Amino acid sequence: MKLTMTVNGQAVSFENILPTRRLIDILREDLQLKGTKEGCGEGECGACTVIMDGKAVDSCLLLACQLEGSEIITIEGLAKEGELDELQEAFVSHGAIQCGYCMPGMVMATKALLMENPAPTEAEIRNAIAGNICRCSGYSQIVSAVLSVKGSPEDVEES
Ligand code: FES
Ligand code: FES
Repeated sequence: MKLTMTVNGQAVSFENILPTRRLIDILREDLQLKGTKEGCGEGECGACTVIMDGKAVDSCLLLACQLEGSEIITIEGLAKEGELDELQEAFVSHGAIQCGYCMPGMVMATKALLMENPAPTEAEIRNAIAGNICRCSGYSQIVSAVLSVKGSPEDVEES
């Protein structure tokens, strides 16, 4: 099948792509956007989260036949002119990143939340990352980072 979509603001098209090719493979292998990570490959871990038409989605579960005309944002689409965006900076400054494997997914899940709701509560943040597994951080620093971006940091209880 043919496929045309937008990735990080750039139009991309494929003349002959398998309808069952996964979005994560299109991103990582066809477009060489390796920031999106694969963990479980089954929609359970959130490592592969990207933003599609404004919503956080698992790129391991989406197939080429579902992508026509879509607008995809990956972790590579956030930094501008070599500068991390505000949310990425907050993850760094709050020590939210340890091994880092879950981070692209965490950042994209919370970026999607902030795009829809610029001032989420702690509960809304925790709900937004409910599908994202982190084996290292304990989640509190991640929540603190997102709260700081909305501009009204709150105390975050240890999870
Ligand atoms: S790799 Fe997609 S949800 Fe785990
Ligand atoms: S920082 Fe290691 S899995 Fe989240």
